[in-house]
Amino acid sequence: MIDENRVEAGALPAAGVPAEVALAEVRQLRGVDRPTHGGRLFAYVYDPAVPGLDDLAAAAHRESAHVNGLDPTAFPSLLAMENALVGAAGRVLGAGPGTTAPDVVGSVTSGGTESLILAVKTARDAHPEITAPRIVVPSSAHAAFAKAAHYLRVALDVVPVSPETLRPDPAVMAAAIRPETVLVACSAPSYAHGVVDPVAQIAAAAAEAGVRCHVDACFGGWTLPYLRRLGEPVPAFDFAVPGVTSISVDLHKYAYAPKGVSVLLHRDAAMRAPQYFAYADWPGYTMINPVIASTRSGGPIAAAYATVRHLGDDGYLRLAAVTRDAVAGLADAVRAVDGLRLMAEPESTVVCFTATEGGPDLFVLVDELTSRGWHTQPQLSYAGLPASVHLTVTAAVAPRVAEFGPDLAEAVAAARAAGPVRLPAELGAMVGALTPDALTPEMVVGLAAGLGLGGDPDAGPLPERMALVNTLLDAAPSALRERLLVEFVSLLQRPTWAPS
Ligand SMILES: Cc1ncc(COP(=O)(O)O)c(C=O)c1O
Repeated sequence: MIDENRVEAGALPAAGVPAEVALAEVRQLRGVDRPTHGGRLFAYVYDPAVPGLDDLAAAAHRESAHVNGLDPTAFPSLLAMENALVGAAGRVLGAGPGTTAPDVVGSVTSGGTESLILAVKTARDAHPEITAPRIVVPSSAHAAFAKAAHYLRVALDVVPVSPETLRPDPAVMAAAIRPETVLVACSAPSYAHGVVDPVAQIAAAAAEAGVRCHVDACFGGWTLPYLRRLGEPVPAFDFAVPGVTSISVDLHKYAYAPKGVSVLLHRDAAMRAPQYFAYADWPGYTMINPVIASTRSGGPIAAAYATVRHLGDDGYLRLAAVTRDAVAGLADAVRAVDGLRLMAEPESTVVCFTATEGGPDLFVLVDELTSRGWHTQPQLSYAGLPASVHLTVTAAVAPRVAEFGPDLAEAVAAARAAGPVRLPAELGAMVGALTPDALTPEMVVGLAAGLGLGGDPDAGPLPERMALVNTLLDAAPSALRERLLVEFVSLLQRPTWAPS
């Protein structure tokens, strides 16, 4: 039934295919993806394993998919849902009537990166008199701050994190603030290691200098408050902290909404004002955009609204408890294996571990786990921090925890038996000698082919075992990693043309 040449034929056949064929094609293409459900993928996806939730979100998405967020007066339904989501996020993060932050306002964006770009833009545009604006971030801050700085031509002042605590020293953050600094940022928690920065001290230093302070709670902002209610020692990180001027929280992470929804909150409307873009100087409609996109589908917003309404406060509390227990179980499994150590004691929903002296090769271990059906995320070594393995833990992982321990022990034994990956001498020499500028697309084609990357479209773009690739990248300085991966992704992003 399925056209074998579907990929080669591109998306525009001369004559349209029946609906069921188009859908079957999507399903077939999805077959090579990592499993989004089932609790064995520890990155990219957030699964509460609540029966019926996917169907509810899909139905809500369908209702509003063609609604356009461009004009809230034409589609008041979307405005109402956005305002309700902003109110919910504000409540979760210590704002609203009866709190010390009663005037908090916000916007719904497409994701964490958009929220962070807008937080930086808003801070920058609040100070048009500063011609060369700068932001201060810990080295553990999400890469989206670097993207924001790049897009917005704002200089990035990066404060290293301690290799022991994985947090920045607030005194060093304070010292990094200059007259041109428009924003100081920190994470609650950081993505890579799941640790909460010293928000209160950093926000106090920013306030003292008269600078805005953004808390990136994109990852954990929806779980930390529930963990605190469950008795976990979560430090203050939200609007209850004086000096915190904006917070981002992603609903498509731990609010368990389908992808495409984050919330950016500001302490008051005056602080949000520079976020808006308005343009009336053309013959068309006056464009008033609170966020980066102009036309926006109502689908993700409606799906998030239905998800948050359905799960409710009690649902999130229950899911946080389940997730906390899963985190504890996974951390115990790591502690039980000789040769591994936790990068930090878990304080949110991340378990991150590295190898001890004489322990297994981590990249081989990741492959061994993959071959046992566990999809973990390798993190390369960086600025004195060792390579590590990241597990984003969601409620769906809980029923799998008992299986993880024995598989981890077995995978470690197999990785030890296999021994560390040795880069072939010529590859090692190449990485040592190569500068990002000297790298040509042709060299990357040769390298990718040699490493088995992108060769088999039916199996996906990556080979089954990635240890060699990860070892090569780990040996490269970050500028070279960036260039290698840009060239590689650019190789993957090629159109499929219909035969002429
Ligand atoms: C702390 C943090 N900030 C920002 C982001 C970026 O979010 P997104 O991928 O939705 O753009 C992430 C994503 O993992 C994150 O963990």
